[in-house]
Amino acid sequence: MSCPFHQTAELNPALQSLDWLLGKWQSDEPGEGSFSNIPHFRYTEALCFSQVGQPVINFMFNACDADTKKPMHKECGFIRLQPGTNRVAFIIAQNSGLVEIEEGEITGQQVNLQSQALARPSFAKEPHVKEVTRVFQLRPDGKLEQTVSMATETQPLMQHLHITYQRAP
Ligand code: HEM
Repeated sequence: MSCPFHQTAELNPALQSLDWLLGKWQSDEPGEGSFSNIPHFRYTEALCFSQVGQPVINFMFNACDADTKKPMHKECGFIRLQPGTNRVAFIIAQNSGLVEIEEGEITGQQVNLQSQALARPSFAKEPHVKEVTRVFQLRPDGKLEQTVSMATETQPLMQHLHITYQRAP
């Protein structure tokens, strides 16, 4: 996965509190997926957070089946920060058709996010997602961790994904 422009443009000062997230990350061991009645699954995922000097981070996530390597879930979007605060917004489009605004706070090297708006095509598959919460954390061992929980029309909020990444060269 290419990660164009990363580190070629001077970092916009507005992004200073998220500089630890920038760059390419690759899952170090398969992530774990589950949710209510779906079969447990294992996946790999590559993340790219890049910047081009604007007060915005651009990102792409690409997940594959851990065994077959078949492409699965994809997300891309933008991260914006509220000036002078630790508030952050992730603007996300998913290949499932779901689009999301998630908002939250940066605390040290952790971001806690909560969905604020969700939308989808009129013919999107059911059950529809009603809520998403997500945590990114840079751990003391240098690994990045992502945990995603969701609620659907039929199930309450519960964990869907957990995965760790190491920096890709
Ligand atoms: C915020 C991100 C995500 C959201 C909102 C989301 C949402 C959903 C929903 C609504 C379902 C159907 C649940 C049900 O039938 O009760 C589902 C299933 C599933 N998700 Fe995710 N998902 C996300 C990320 C991912 C990622 C990164 C993977 C990695 C491969 C993944 C893999 C799967 C699999 C394998 C299933 C079961 C089969 C299927 O329904 O396609 N999801 N997801």
